[in-house]
Amino acid sequence: MGAMAVAMSLGLVLLGGFLCRLLEDYILQRRSKKLPPGRMGWPYIGETLQLYSGKPNSFFASKQKRYGDVFKTHILGCPCVMIASPEAARFVLVTQAHLFKPTFPASKQRMIGPQALFFHEGPYHAKLRKLVVSSFTPESIRGMVSDIEDLVLATLDTWEGKKINTFAEMKKFAFKVGLMKIFGREASIDIADLNQAYLNLEKGYNSMPVNVPGTKFNTSMKARQHLSKMIEKVIQERRVRAKERPELPNLLQTLLDHEDETGRLSHEQVVDNIIGIIFASRDTTASVLTWLIKFLRSRSTLLESVTVEQEGIQLKKPDSDRKLTWEDMKCMRLTTRVIHETLRVATVLSFTFREAVEDVEYKGYVIPKGWKVLPLFRNIHHNPEFFPDPHTFDPSRFEVPPKPNTFMPFGNGVHSCPGSELAKLEMLIFIHHLTTKYRWDLDESKTGIEYSPFQVPQEGLPITVERK
Ligand code: HEM
Repeated sequence: MGAMAVAMSLGLVLLGGFLCRLLEDYILQRRSKKLPPGRMGWPYIGETLQLYSGKPNSFFASKQKRYGDVFKTHILGCPCVMIASPEAARFVLVTQAHLFKPTFPASKQRMIGPQALFFHEGPYHAKLRKLVVSSFTPESIRGMVSDIEDLVLATLDTWEGKKINTFAEMKKFAFKVGLMKIFGREASIDIADLNQAYLNLEKGYNSMPVNVPGTKFNTSMKARQHLSKMIEKVIQERRVRAKERPELPNLLQTLLDHEDETGRLSHEQVVDNIIGIIFASRDTTASVLTWLIKFLRSRSTLLESVTVEQEGIQLKKPDSDRKLTWEDMKCMRLTTRVIHETLRVATVLSFTFREAVEDVEYKGYVIPKGWKVLPLFRNIHHNPEFFPDPHTFDPSRFEVPPKPNTFMPFGNGVHSCPGSELAKLEMLIFIHHLTTKYRWDLDESKTGIEYSPFQVPQEGLPITVERK
């Protein structure tokens, strides 16, 4: 009886979904507007099963092959339009960005904090973004070279003679760099405690936002409270010694000092943005660093050339001062191209989400109000028209700049990544010391890919590391 009732309810739900779909299509046709080509799959479920039953990247690639650069589908309960051409990505992210608002699952917004800049648009986003960008410009991060170098050396020291999980190690490293820029050098933070709070926070990443004891989301929300208290403690310390500023300019101070006609930022605004930026900076940078180490080790000639470039930088330095400088980064031309090629091939953020705020017309198609729009960075980065032989790792392709809007590892437009220069700086310094002082071997039995949710090599890329 119970099973029958469930089956009937399910049937009604599916029928309801089907009728809604028909109604939606009818209304659009009446308005003589054409939806992009593509399949919407089953009511509610859409094509979510097809997306997750195989590799997400193959799903998007095969759709583009079949339907072209703009196509519709239905995933994770939402009707979506996928866009896979540079022009369409520019339309959504840059020129008509005001017609597409950022959109995230409710669980993620509550986990990170609703005042974080990613979730906003308009004047609040612009104000926050200006403050964040100002803390991560090349001028603001050039003073970090020596601190990052110390962190790289300390990290590599712990790897010597061991088998390590590269992604896990890189997460710790990127976390520490992020904290240094966000809180300054002198903040008294218990990094292990903060790290644990983040691990707990992440547990609710894709969970239902049900905050009752025992759920992953509840663990996440408790971790959030703990993080908020830790940040509050640092803020209190800052207030006590307001005049005695840490030498390294830092984001927290920038946020606390800001005042405009609307007053100062609220405590919630400061905390949500700090939590959000730590979140945005860690796994992205760590997964690219992990791919970089894999790609280099799998190409011995390239690794040799990068090592020669890095040794050349060391050779020019006097014995009395072998420390890296900001100017050295400009001499790492091949290494920079290898980083760009890694960003392209790995495209750790395969796509992003927006939502149409009104019916939008693009090339004769309508993107209905409320539909999600996904610029597919990976499809663009792997299109042979822009990157010939796209699956081959070839840093020399970056000897000439890519065509406009074809290379967007850090996004584009008003929400593009403010941390791109810091991420690249971390990578250059890491590769400098890794290649000049260490050799490492991959575990050849682990060649797969995992999604966590960023794309990373299987089991986080176990490697064994020896000093040269
Ligand atoms: C290799 C490492 C990184 C990659 C690949 C990456 C990628 C991206 C991408 C693609 C976006 C745009 C998302 C969208 O348009 O929806 C973005 C936004 C963002 N990233 Fe990064 N990111 C990296 C490192 C960092 C770092 C180190 C920081 C620290 C400041 C950071 C902070 C942010 C923030 C705050 C945003 C949102 C900006 C806004 O909404 O205005 N990211 N990132």
